[in-house]
Amino acid sequence: MNKLFILTCLAAALCFKAVAQEISIDKGWKFSTGDSAQWASPNYNDQHWKSIDVSHNWEAQGYPDYDGFGWYRLHMVIPSTLKEKAYLKDSIRINLGIIDDNDEVYLNGKLIAKYGGKRGPITTSNYGPRTYVIAAANPAILWDKENTLAVRIFDTGGDGGMYGYKHSIGMANVMDNVNINTDADYIYDDDKMGLSKTIRLITTDHYLFKGSLHFTVTDPEDNKVLFETTSNADFAAGKPFKYTFNIEKLRKKSYLLSYTFTDEQSGSTITKTENSPYLLTPYASNKPRINGADVYGARPGNPFLYLIPATGKRPLVFEATGLPAGLRLDHATGIISGAVYQKGTYPITLTVKNNQASKTKKFTIIIGDNIGLTPALGWNSWNAFGLSVNDAKVRAAAKTMAGKLSQHGWTYINIDDGWEAPQRLVDGEIMANEKFPDMRGLATYVHSLGLKMGIYSSPGPRTCGGYLGSWQHEDQDAQTYGDWGIDYLKYDWCSYSEIAPKNPGLDDMKKPYQVMRASLDKIQRDIMFSFCQYGMGDVWKWGAEVGGNSWRSTGDINDSWGSMAGIGFNQTDDGPYAQPGHFNDPDMLVVGEVGWGSSQHKTHLTPDEQYTHISLWSLLSAPLLIGCDMSRLDWFTFGLLANDEVLAIDQDALGKQAHQAFKTNDYQIWIKDLADGSKAVGLFNTSDKYQTITLNRHENDLAQYTKIRDVWQQKYVVGIWPNYITKVAPHGVVLLKLSK
Ligand code: GAL
Repeated sequence: MNKLFILTCLAAALCFKAVAQEISIDKGWKFSTGDSAQWASPNYNDQHWKSIDVSHNWEAQGYPDYDGFGWYRLHMVIPSTLKEKAYLKDSIRINLGIIDDNDEVYLNGKLIAKYGGKRGPITTSNYGPRTYVIAAANPAILWDKENTLAVRIFDTGGDGGMYGYKHSIGMANVMDNVNINTDADYIYDDDKMGLSKTIRLITTDHYLFKGSLHFTVTDPEDNKVLFETTSNADFAAGKPFKYTFNIEKLRKKSYLLSYTFTDEQSGSTITKTENSPYLLTPYASNKPRINGADVYGARPGNPFLYLIPATGKRPLVFEATGLPAGLRLDHATGIISGAVYQKGTYPITLTVKNNQASKTKKFTIIIGDNIGLTPALGWNSWNAFGLSVNDAKVRAAAKTMAGKLSQHGWTYINIDDGWEAPQRLVDGEIMANEKFPDMRGLATYVHSLGLKMGIYSSPGPRTCGGYLGSWQHEDQDAQTYGDWGIDYLKYDWCSYSEIAPKNPGLDDMKKPYQVMRASLDKIQRDIMFSFCQYGMGDVWKWGAEVGGNSWRSTGDINDSWGSMAGIGFNQTDDGPYAQPGHFNDPDMLVVGEVGWGSSQHKTHLTPDEQYTHISLWSLLSAPLLIGCDMSRLDWFTFGLLANDEVLAIDQDALGKQAHQAFKTNDYQIWIKDLADGSKAVGLFNTSDKYQTITLNRHENDLAQYTKIRDVWQQKYVVGIWPNYITKVAPHGVVLLKLSK
């Protein structure tokens, strides 16, 4: 990052409604892959370049799987009226949406801003929103004349380009350095159906802000304002203004909260809106209940570890009848361990008791060749911490999982990229870096909680984060993972592109996964094998044959509706290939506090979008890998992750993936067959307005399905035959289970 050029960047500008005059630069861009110094120049003739839509990444527009350099060029007039109408006249602000991953910005041939480098150890985390502020007196700006803006991007992998919304040029405004900080947690009062929170007006400017804060609560269903209030609000650098609201009698839905500050002197305003969270998942009862999948697979002779997931008031006492020889149950913790040598299908009855009641559940252990019979439920460090993951963060995740989520079936604690030492030992053995002083000890700790531990590598010489990969050390690495007690391996293509032929064929794509499969097979341990190669070569068609328990079907997800919905609602071609032990992986969850680095933020998905995310991923039989800072798991995120009836849809033993049964521009219906003959149905509103969605049971083989259960709320609902008609919130979902 070159500080000379960047006065302010990466402000959370996307959240604000700017009031200064702006010109939109959303349209008219030309694009070329490759790289040339001439492309910065206003004299370069780009007429033969292809047009590109900057609301989407380049992969979506005819450049699938393209990584490396790409240039965007735009010709536009910057009118001096912008300056004349502005209260502050010293700088202009250029908003380029999201850049994936690194960029240099040229105005009329002069470099005016840049962020990230071509390649560095932490290149992937340079992905993000870009707002650059440059002096209005900068001679590169040609006021009232044609200007050429050229953006040179280097994409390190996965999605690439310049995309997102509201690309614009405007004058820097009084409000540019004001932040309406809404990061504090909401306090939820279940009895009063109330929410409260303290927000803060903060600035880093020397300007003294004097004005008022207007707060409104609107019901997005009918746009009625339910509550509004105005308070005087003065603040300055180091002296924020705090406002606490307390609203009650809310329904189980999201409301639009809006905060507008108006500065008296300049007349400028700044607004931030957010959608309030709401809880659908009922609290777990004090009575015991056994959760989790109905089946579990392990290989003969390998160490066996299974924690019976159960809710209910502690202490609980666990019993199991029918356990195969070699397994023992710890009656106090519910951990089943040992090893079974005899292949077979073992029907078990699990019982859990406390001082209130006793509950049993039928459970099947299958000792055979297949593991991961239901999708993995766990946590992965990447979406939260990126390369800043360390031992303490992993332990904290394990602790939260054991304390709160393992009761609902959550098991894996997976360390993504960033754990590897810079060099192997002389004999080639891989070591962890200083952030992980004792990998074996860490795995032992994770296992002591009844949980399992995962790790990450690449078949190439380097991982995507620039750390050591397993290239030519596959056997050795598998052995090391086995020695440490690793239970899950995410294997990420990354620099294997340097090893594979330039245009790899199917065999070339399979090869690195076959090699590591063979290495893992030499280890006396059940290690889940998760392919990560972003869906190349329709991996879903051959992932199972090559021995993958799951395979990523897409590039990297981020916490935006465009990314999450773009991935989730496109999981159609791969659907038929999901089966017990082998699942499509539409990437990890983006709920809770995410950040891909050393700082985290609340996911930018609205509460309804988060309900959609978890519902859709469950219908897709996707591995559910939580990607948040688990030490900051709030009540809303916990509710999303601890709904046993929702998780049961993901964990259904039939292992089928939902199919898209119906689609309009505004909504979609997805249906999944379940092992007990019932069907899970997701009614998704993909529009940004409330929709009334009708499920007609004369269609989609639903004629005999008379019982309808609202899965999130865990209660039966009625529909007037043959329809079930419901209102669904913008980007929201109603998830149903229909049975005969
Ligand atoms: C990406 C992968 C991410 C993460 C990252 C680590 O290729 O898709 O999920 O693992 O590499 O560098």
